[in-house]
Amino acid sequence: MRAVVFERYGEPAEVREVADPEPAEHGVVVRVEATGLCRSDWHGWQGHDPDITLPHVPGHELAGVVEAVGARVTGRRPGDRVTVPFVCACGSCPACAAGDQQVCERQTQPGFTHWGSFAHYVALDHADVNLVAVPDGMSYATAASLGCRFATAYRAVVRQGRVAAGEWVAVHGCGGVGLSAVMIAAAAGARVVAVDVSPGALELARRFGAAECVDASAVPDPAAAVRDLTGGGAHLSLDALGAPATCAASVNGLRRRGRHVQVGLLPSPTGTTPVPMARAVALELELLGSHGMAAHTYPPMLELVRAGVLRPDLLVTSTIGLDAAPAALAAMGTAPGAGVTVIEPWN
Ligand SMILES: NC(=O)c1ccc[n+]([C@@H]2O[C@H](COP(=O)([O-])OP(=O)(O)OC[C@H]3O[C@@H](n4cnc5c(N)ncnc54)[C@H](O)[C@@H]3O)[C@@H](O)[C@H]2O)c1
Ligand SMILES: [Zn+2]
Ligand SMILES: [Zn+2]
Repeated sequence: MRAVVFERYGEPAEVREVADPEPAEHGVVVRVEATGLCRSDWHGWQGHDPDITLPHVPGHELAGVVEAVGARVTGRRPGDRVTVPFVCACGSCPACAAGDQQVCERQTQPGFTHWGSFAHYVALDHADVNLVAVPDGMSYATAASLGCRFATAYRAVVRQGRVAAGEWVAVHGCGGVGLSAVMIAAAAGARVVAVDVSPGALELARRFGAAECVDASAVPDPAAAVRDLTGGGAHLSLDALGAPATCAASVNGLRRRGRHVQVGLLPSPTGTTPVPMARAVALELELLGSHGMAAHTYPPMLELVRAGVLRPDLLVTSTIGLDAAPAALAAMGTAPGAGVTVIEPWN
């Protein structure tokens, strides 16, 4: 099959022929019809993910057709249209038993713990636990976005963030995760303040329901701007980029007893990030993390998509073939485009 491969961190990836994957006993191989380009792929390529071994094929936000099925899989057969949360759970550890497959103790992740979906085919583990049927009428490009950023934003806003109608929600970083969060929070009846440094990203945020926009590159203190616009601070705020500055701005933009949800990854050489904990104490803030979303919790989100309340299809601003993927991955570090880029490996 053809796949995007890199041999060294940060050095150009290339498209080449590699061996087709085989399904594990409990797994499947999926023919990849669409796979999103997420900043986590860029983090992996930069060497920020300790799970990756070289050479490596990135890609974890995918949809496609089941091609081959392992001997112990009972619920899936070739030809099924499927997507998958990027956290593939084992189904049997204590976290899975509690329904928290998104933090499974023995999780695998395509594109991180093994070769991913920037390829014609990808192997996925524990298919009966993790595969989600793509609803009739939903395109593969739209379904792919549910595998990582849209579902992650849904859990971050709705479950971890406990968004409520009428609340102010600040979203710092309006890329794939952040724009999804803007759309989901606005659909829940929240008033959203979108924060980004890119005019194109803020324009999309406005289109997807943001009531207010802050250009973080044009104000001295984005947190103060959020507090001004929201009458004292947001009820709920997300760092949807993952940087010390956006993490701090998210916490500092909250009102008393507000909730911060960290979604953006925070790689650092020491493994730690400074957080304004004095403010967290004085204002009784809640600081939460959010990590993907378990397959069994997809139905309410899919129902909102089916009803047209949520429109992940609108987030896809660019569709490219496999040959353009290495350059698009590299461009995330230098000139990221607004919205979500989807790779269609067979085009
Ligand atoms: N926790 C999870 O389960 C999970 C899932 C998916 C992605 N992620 C992580 O979420 C983060 C976002 O991913 P993405 O694919 O949406 O990224 P992206 O590159 O599409 O978007 C990032 C956005 O942040 C903006 N930005 C840059 N500097 C800024 C600043 N100083 N202030 C405000 N905005 C700024 C950029 O202009 C861009 O619009 C990444 O760290 C990714 O690895 C985490
Ligand atoms: Zn991702
Ligand atoms: Zn598990």
